Amino acid sequence: MSSRLVLGIETSCDETGAAVMDETGVILGESLHSQKEVHLKTGGIIPTIAQQLHRENIGRVVQEAMERSSIFPSQLSAVATTVKPGLALSLGIGLEFSLSFVKKHQKPFIPIHHMEAHALTVRMLQPVLFPFLVLLVSGGHSLLALARGIDDFLLLGQTLDEAPGDSMDKVARRLSLIKHPRCSTLSGGQAIELLAQDGDRLKFPFRPPMGAHYDCNFSFAGLRNQVTMTIQKKEREEGVEPGTLLSCVNDIAASMQHTVASHIAKRTHRAVLFCKDRGLLPSVNPTLVVSGGVASNQYIRKTLKIVTDATGLHLLCPPSKFCTDNGVMIAWNGVERLREGKGILPYTESINYDPKAPL
Ligand code: KG4
Ligand code: ZN
Repeated sequence: MSSRLVLGIETSCDETGAAVMDETGVILGESLHSQKEVHLKTGGIIPTIAQQLHRENIGRVVQEAMERSSIFPSQLSAVATTVKPGLALSLGIGLEFSLSFVKKHQKPFIPIHHMEAHALTVRMLQPVLFPFLVLLVSGGHSLLALARGIDDFLLLGQTLDEAPGDSMDKVARRLSLIKHPRCSTLSGGQAIELLAQDGDRLKFPFRPPMGAHYDCNFSFAGLRNQVTMTIQKKEREEGVEPGTLLSCVNDIAASMQHTVASHIAKRTHRAVLFCKDRGLLPSVNPTLVVSGGVASNQYIRKTLKIVTDATGLHLLCPPSKFCTDNGVMIAWNGVERLREGKGILPYTESINYDPKAPL
């Protein structure tokens, strides 16, 4: 086997992922253990539980990825692992495992920035040249950046409070959507998208966030608060217990999704204009890449398409499985770094994780 091989390991939040990839981006083997079902039941991620589940699963997940790719550790060229940003207790498990793995097998170690990995995954699927605009929206992230190189990002905006997926998850919990027959296995955002299909998006005209802030930052906590107050009001009017509202849940879902989508679209539009005005995007095939769990929302995608059509950008949304956390995106970032010889550490070097690292 002549191509260099990278093992990628991801444990920054609630997915334990591993993948082996060759230098051309071909996935030889992968494995993913999701904790989402557990966290759905506990009503959110409890870091100590996430840590425990990573600890229980990481050995098996890495072994599965290696076995599925039919290679031995000695054949690897490097191990790439998420070290920032994320939950400290979760990052710690992946890093501890990886450092002992590279020491044992005497392999170089490539520390990976989780957001950079999200932003670059699209390049594994098709040749997207730098610079391009990237929007990351998930349960833990919300940012707009200009990707100028594999380790060169211009941060244009980020959330000032919480991420859109987090807001939708909290509203879904407040509405007890997990007890809803059509939503019991869905994440909060998925449940809201499903119910919104049968709702009136203009029924509750929530105030758009940050109307007077002319930048590319996001805010979703105020919107969540407006939605929660509407739910409380409706519960009082109908004389029902908290979390048992039935009558207008679809309209609430549709109105919230609409406000989230238009907020994301407005900030993205501003970021596009900012980059175009300054000649930061190429004149040929300027591209907006959208990734993260919330990017699988079809209504949000359609709203973004309006922005890209109006500004002459090409909209790229990688398939859902590459938008969410996994070992593949980490392995790919490792491959890109290996190719460019950037950020590769000897196995003797020790390194710490960094929960709050900016892009
Ligand atoms: O990327 P991801 O799997 O994990 C991280 O947050 O890093 O994203 C999960 C988040 C959750 O908040 C979930 O509710 C949201 O993405 N999500 C969605 C949809 N699918 C997942 N939000 C809106 N619409 C969807 N279809
Ligand atoms: Zn992520």
